[in-house]
Amino acid sequence: CESPNSWIPEFHFYKPNHWINDPNGLFFFEGTYHLFYQMNPDDVVWGNMHWGHATSEDLISWEHEPIALYAEPEGLGYIFSGGAVVDVNNTSGFAKSGETPIVATFTHHSKDEVQTQSLAFSLDGGKTFEKYSNNPVIPNPGLKDFRDPKVVWYEPGNYWVKAVVAGQCVHFYRSENLLQWEKLSEFGHNIGAHGGVWECPDLFPLHCEQSGETRWVLLISINPGGPNGGSAMQYFIGDFDGRDFLVQDKDTRWLDYGTDFYAGITFDNVSEAPTQRTIIAWMSNWNYANKTPDNAWRGAMTLPRILKLVKHPHSYALCMEPVKQSEKLWSSKKSSHRVFDAPIALPDAYKLEITLEKTASETLLEWRNGQGNLIKLKIDLANMCAHFDRSEAGFDNHDFAATIDVPLLASDSEFMEITVCVDTCSLEFFFANGERTLTALCFPDSAFSELKVSGNLLSVADKTEILVSPLKK
Ligand code: FRU
Repeated sequence: CESPNSWIPEFHFYKPNHWINDPNGLFFFEGTYHLFYQMNPDDVVWGNMHWGHATSEDLISWEHEPIALYAEPEGLGYIFSGGAVVDVNNTSGFAKSGETPIVATFTHHSKDEVQTQSLAFSLDGGKTFEKYSNNPVIPNPGLKDFRDPKVVWYEPGNYWVKAVVAGQCVHFYRSENLLQWEKLSEFGHNIGAHGGVWECPDLFPLHCEQSGETRWVLLISINPGGPNGGSAMQYFIGDFDGRDFLVQDKDTRWLDYGTDFYAGITFDNVSEAPTQRTIIAWMSNWNYANKTPDNAWRGAMTLPRILKLVKHPHSYALCMEPVKQSEKLWSSKKSSHRVFDAPIALPDAYKLEITLEKTASETLLEWRNGQGNLIKLKIDLANMCAHFDRSEAGFDNHDFAATIDVPLLASDSEFMEITVCVDTCSLEFFFANGERTLTALCFPDSAFSELKVSGNLLSVADKTEILVSPLKK
C-alpha cells in the first residue's frame, strides 16, 4: 500500500517495489555503464540477497534489467556485495571465441552464515552471467565477517589484486587468472576508524593532475562508527607496492560527512580512470535503512560522482563532485537571488548553487513546507564548520533524527561555494569544490516549498548569491 507521500526520487536510481542496498559490480563496457546492486526480489526490507541490474549510457537515465545473479539459499548462499572487472586480455580463459569476459566477484553468504568469495562471468558484455562451476574461489578462513571482494588490475606486476574485508581489516590477494588467489597481506589493524565492522573495500591508483604524482586509494565502509552516527565511508591514501598497502598518514578521513553515503564503490574500465574514478554509493544508513517511510520501495543510489585527488601542502585528499553528465538534469531557467528579505520559492527537485562571502561569519539556510517541517543548515565560517539538522524535517524516528557536523577547509578564496542537489527525499551537499560533502535523506510530509536565508552580513554590498536550477521535466 502506497503512503500518501511516497517520496519517489525524481533523479536518483531506485527500484520500484523493491528493497535495494549497496551498488555492486560497477563497470563500463562498449558505451554502456552497468550498475548491479543488492536487492531483495520479494520485499521492501533487507533479505534474500540477489544482484539486481540496470544499464545506462550517461550514468543519469537508467534502464532496469533482469536480475543478474540469483541467490542459492540451499547452496552456497545469498549473493552479497562485490565488484566486476572487464577481463580485456581474457586472463580468466572464460572466453572461447574472442569475447571479452566480464568477471563479477562477489560473496556467497550461506544459510549458516559462512561467507566465501565466488565468481560469475558474462560473455555477452554483462547482459547475462553464469556462475563459475568451481565456486568458491576463496574459502572462508575461519572468520564470521569475510566479504565484499573488489578487484583491480595491478599493472606493474601484471596481476589482479583483490581486497576483501575481514572483520575490521582488509585482506589483499593476488591472481594471474582471477580463479586462483594467493594471500598477500593484511591492512588496518592499528589504523583508521574501528567503531564497527569494515565493509565494501575499493582499492585503485589515482593520478593527481595538480602534482603529476600517483597515489593509491583505499575506500572502506564502516558500520557503525561513522562521524555522525551509524554507517559511513572512510578512506586511506598511500602506496600499494604489489603486496602491502602503506599509508600516507594516520589520520582518519571521511569521504562524506552525511549519514547517507554508504558502501560506495567505483566503476571498472572507465577511460578517465587515471585522474578520476566514478563512484556511486547507497543513500541510506544501517541505523534505520529498514525503517524509512518510503515503504512502496526502499533504498536509492547517490548521484554518480567523480572522485579526484587533491594535493595539500603535506598530504593528499579526495574530493567528489557530481559527474558532468548530471548537468543535463537542470533547466537553464535558473533564478538568481541576491536579496534575502523574502523566502525563495522552491521547485520539487532542483540544484542550488550558493556563493557565500567569507566575511559572513554565520549564515543560516532554512527549508520549510506548509506542514511545519524544517531543515536547517548553519554555515559557520568563523569556526569553519557546517551544521545540518533534520530533526524537525518529518519522519519522527529516534535513530533518524540526526544532526550532522561537517568540518570545512580553510582556503584562500574570498568565497565559499556550495552546490546542493535536492530530490524528493535527499539532499547532496558539495562544499568548496567537493572537498567536503554531506549526503542526507529527509522525508518531509510534503516537499519543502521555500528557502529562507539569514545571516549577519546579508546587505546589498554582500556578494552572497543563490542560484536555483529546477530539474528539467
Ligand atoms: C554493506 C553490506 C555488505 C554486504 C551487504 C549485504 O551494506 O553489509 O557488507 O555484502 O551489505 O547486503
